[in-house]
Amino acid sequence: MKRILTALAALILLTSAATATIPVVPYPTSAQELKGSGFNAKGAAVRCEGALDALSRQWIESFEKDLRLASGTDKKSPSTIFFCFNAAIADEAYTIAVSKKAVQVNASTASGFFYAIQTLKQLLPVEIYTGKAAPKGADWTIAPMKIQDRPRFAYRGMHLDCARHFFSIDEVKKYIDVMAMFKMNRFHWHLTEDQGWRIEIKKYPRLTEVGAWRDGTCIGRDFSTSDGIRYGGYYTQEQMKEIVAYAAERGITVIPELDLPGHMLAALASYPELGCTGGPYAVWQRWGITNDILCAGNEKVYEFLENVLTEILDIFPSEYIHIGGDECFLSELDDPWDKCPKCIAKMEELGIPRGPQEKHYLQNYVTARVQSFLLSKGRKIIGWDEILEGDLAPGATVMSWRGTVGGIKAAAMGFDAIMTPYDYLYFDYYQSRERDKEPLCIGGYLPIETVYGYDPLDGITAGAEKHILGVQANLWTEYVTTNEHLEYMLLPRACALSELQWTPRENKDWDRFNASLDHLFDIFDSLGYTYCRTVRGETGLK
Ligand code: ACM
Ligand code: ZN
Repeated sequence: MKRILTALAALILLTSAATATIPVVPYPTSAQELKGSGFNAKGAAVRCEGALDALSRQWIESFEKDLRLASGTDKKSPSTIFFCFNAAIADEAYTIAVSKKAVQVNASTASGFFYAIQTLKQLLPVEIYTGKAAPKGADWTIAPMKIQDRPRFAYRGMHLDCARHFFSIDEVKKYIDVMAMFKMNRFHWHLTEDQGWRIEIKKYPRLTEVGAWRDGTCIGRDFSTSDGIRYGGYYTQEQMKEIVAYAAERGITVIPELDLPGHMLAALASYPELGCTGGPYAVWQRWGITNDILCAGNEKVYEFLENVLTEILDIFPSEYIHIGGDECFLSELDDPWDKCPKCIAKMEELGIPRGPQEKHYLQNYVTARVQSFLLSKGRKIIGWDEILEGDLAPGATVMSWRGTVGGIKAAAMGFDAIMTPYDYLYFDYYQSRERDKEPLCIGGYLPIETVYGYDPLDGITAGAEKHILGVQANLWTEYVTTNEHLEYMLLPRACALSELQWTPRENKDWDRFNASLDHLFDIFDSLGYTYCRTVRGETGLK
């Protein structure tokens, strides 16, 4: 009886403890204030306890170095931050207990320790990010508290289109650093497009000799113009492996996208025999959707895709490969395959009834062929929600971009889904209504408040919730020509995204989140990131 009463008292104490007001984004699963004095982190010692793996130790050592530099002293204070291996804690989860004498971090994996460090860094002076000594008056006190933290969703993604505009390896790493800071774990890398092919494929050298370059780019929104400036670039296989390793160290899996059978004009320009008409084709200089897509009736196309994928699989160990599938047809009325003898023969061979729906069934066939090839190599597909039209084979994961409808439908049908609805999570949209003060964007209006207001389980029935793997924002780059503009589109909306991905729904609180942005802006300033300040009433890219 006494034991029960003690347990009850402990429970009451725990549940009545006040929630800590900390500027940590994404806000943890639980952060409870404790009684007593805070921990002075300046010059604190760092110790590892137990069977930590090499990567965990690497991040802890790097944190220790940052702490020493930011403290501006080699003198160790008696206070210690302990990083303790604890097998009972789940992958990616961690706990932090802060008292006057010590901080104790518990985790069981490198991701768990890495995320705990991200949380701790947000509780310290911004110099922890820069390696410079913090000013004399800096506040080094961490209030006494107990944090228990784990992610809400397993899939926490951010996408980047490096095909419309090309971003260097260093710029991609800086983008991944933002993802890591906000505990994201999937980098969806959009690498092939009508306007440029960015993956070195050794078997098909023309993909990068021809497909990686366009002879100009339309000026502004006027598709009839061209600036006449040759533009392009590509990543070597070694560079992409470097990105995979860089991301993996930060707990991030890189999911490459080979967009097919549409958005393939750069490949067709390189190998015209892969198209229905045989060309000639040119890498596109404008944006939009084209009827020039892969021929679905030509066996050589499947041979090409399998060969390309074989090299892609060698670079990217991800379980999932994104195979695109979006915007294959200019409109519901357009069907480039119904004029092609090879495609017509394939439809007849497959028994696809002719008519307006034929293109969807033929696209299903292309998807299923690629899917079964990838399955034979132990991989799974993700496709944009168009792959749901017609008859999708089991085992595919649907990325819902045309609103939430595709994801809701997919989950109800038993397919896994990832929510990336354009009306909440397309970071290529404007962040202000004062468009003339903003850098040119594709359109739309998506302020950070709208991003924050979304919930990935909205509209999903209770039984289907298990099929929502997670949530991602997409950053298309038709109009994003520089790294500064890219960062401006990413930040601070990515901070809001991270709370949709990580924080329990009941802990989301716009006022608390908005107040935390001041500290995050200081961090971005110290790291040299460009970011948008419309949430503070300032518009435009400075
Ligand atoms: C897409 O935005 N076309 C997936
Ligand atoms: Zn064809």
